[in-house]
Amino acid sequence: MSEFRTVARLEDVPVDTMLQVELDGEKIVLAHVGDRVFALHDECTHEEFPLSSGELVGKQVTCILHGARFDLETGSPRALPAVRPVRTYEARVEGEEIQVRVG
Ligand code: FES
Repeated sequence: MSEFRTVARLEDVPVDTMLQVELDGEKIVLAHVGDRVFALHDECTHEEFPLSSGELVGKQVTCILHGARFDLETGSPRALPAVRPVRTYEARVEGEEIQVRVG
């Protein structure tokens, strides 16, 4: 059974920023919005570009390569050219640590 594992400290991801981390060889982008931290596979489903170099707009991330946009909560595409969702992971803040569950 998968468990939550610490991937970063909260101070490493200030509000309205993103950070790429790796867990079990999986590249994950953490996005800190308001009092929530979201975790998604760090790869645009259009042409495999890292979403962590994109831009946060509310609870969505925009891929800077061609402008696809994804919902941070569900990973669903919200703007073309991406049509497939990005994988999401459960994320939580425990004290000063950001934890993610993979698997
Ligand atoms: S690679 Fe992200 S929109 Fe094209």
